[in-house]
Amino acid sequence: MSRLDLLVLGSGVAGLSAAVRAAGEPGLQVGVLTKAALDQSATRWAQGGVAAVLAEDPDSTDLHLADTLAAGAGLCDVDAVRVLVDEGPGRVNELIAMGAVFDRDAEGELALAREGGHSVPRVVHAGGAATGVEIERALVAAVRATAASVMEGWFASDLVVEKGRCRGVIALDPAGDTQRVEADNVLLATGGAGQLFAVTTNPVQATGDGIAMALRAGVAVADVEFMQFHPTALHHPKMPRPLLSEALRGHGALLRDAAGERFVDELAPRDVVARAMTARMLDQHVDHLWLDATGLERFDERFPTIAAEVRAIGIDPAREWLPIAPAAHYLSGGIVTDLDGATALPGLWAAGEVACTGVHGANRLASNSLLEGMVFAPRVLEALERRKDGPESTGAMRCVLERDVAPEAIAGRGLPRPAVTGGLPAAYEAAKQRDELQRAMTLGAGVLRSATSLADTARVLDGLGAPADPEVRNLLTVGSALLAAAGAREESRGAHTRVDFPEPSPAYRVRLVLS
Ligand code: SIN
Repeated sequence: MSRLDLLVLGSGVAGLSAAVRAAGEPGLQVGVLTKAALDQSATRWAQGGVAAVLAEDPDSTDLHLADTLAAGAGLCDVDAVRVLVDEGPGRVNELIAMGAVFDRDAEGELALAREGGHSVPRVVHAGGAATGVEIERALVAAVRATAASVMEGWFASDLVVEKGRCRGVIALDPAGDTQRVEADNVLLATGGAGQLFAVTTNPVQATGDGIAMALRAGVAVADVEFMQFHPTALHHPKMPRPLLSEALRGHGALLRDAAGERFVDELAPRDVVARAMTARMLDQHVDHLWLDATGLERFDERFPTIAAEVRAIGIDPAREWLPIAPAAHYLSGGIVTDLDGATALPGLWAAGEVACTGVHGANRLASNSLLEGMVFAPRVLEALERRKDGPESTGAMRCVLERDVAPEAIAGRGLPRPAVTGGLPAAYEAAKQRDELQRAMTLGAGVLRSATSLADTARVLDGLGAPADPEVRNLLTVGSALLAAAGAREESRGAHTRVDFPEPSPAYRVRLVLS
């Protein structure tokens, strides 16, 4: 394979938005590498929608900015959020022009939903709560129509770093052979790491691959202690857990405890709701609570995918309450970037859930995630057009590059090295190790954490040694990073709750950078 100008890793909203944009650049050699099929990514599973200011008064980008900062609990980068809210509406309109079909009201205007933490309805959606499927469909069609070379079923295992810059990746091809893919620029758009936990809304591919590769290459990563738990995942053994979109609460669905009582503002930011639910479940000695959507009119018509999901397990949402419990949903931190997606390593870029642009802070506002991918991935292409090379001191990157906003640097625990194990068949061993890691993370590093629970979890992860399976190895790398950051952050803020330090502390109003 000839050397690429840009190699995009991952095929969610961020990776595909970049690839589509790159296709408009004559002469640019672009490749998209993904470990599954092009249309299999966490984006597909996104329900609620895209938050963007598409209507006038009473909404405004200032209000969207204020809501995002409030949810982020003091750790958002204001400049990054400004970029997000200002450029968001234009990116939604580009998607519509590309063929994405969003839901409209009887007058033909975009239908806007309200979700937790938003002051007004501003979330555009498709198919009720199947927004990710529609966005992925439109982007995959656009990428397939371009000249980009698409490598499906390839697994990128490590970055190639030479003379202080990223020059490509080492990858396993679909036959399992090791290949070196050469590229002048690599864009990591590999998504999140929900598979760190036993109960997650994320697909099986969400194993933190990009963050693990960055950590192994010594590239700065931050805010990984802020794993967001979605409050209303369906309490059912199915995995990933089916999500009962926040849009249901936006339309009036109520949260009820085991006694049938309401106990929290249904439209508070989701860290507040997840924490209140977890506390109530502990108090009442139950493993789930209830979402009461019986008052919603036209449930099946408005939310056809959710209706099909719950009806498939014998629940009639018009008459019965829906069993719910929090599930790992979204990693607010990731690889630190500047406002153009440049990481600390020249030649390496990051966008989407894998990145820490600073827009989410300690807790992402609902439906800001697809938006982040749509806004920041094209900025990487614009930066490449300007021949930008290397990071600038903007956005979250200021914490890495500027002395006066010096980050708290914390040492990661030892990074696991690849190893060959004997004995059990490899697939069995990998499944066993993944299961052990997920259970330990859920028990000790979930919605509620303490120094003791984090230390206990760390001991389990240490006991896993050096997994041979590359995805388990990545989970171990990212899980270790999360434990190190969560242990160092001796306060409660946003999605990170320490029962031994229950209040936020001004001393920790900093990004913890792992390197
Ligand atoms: C939801 O629909 O509740 C999820 C949307 C999001 O994760 O922002």
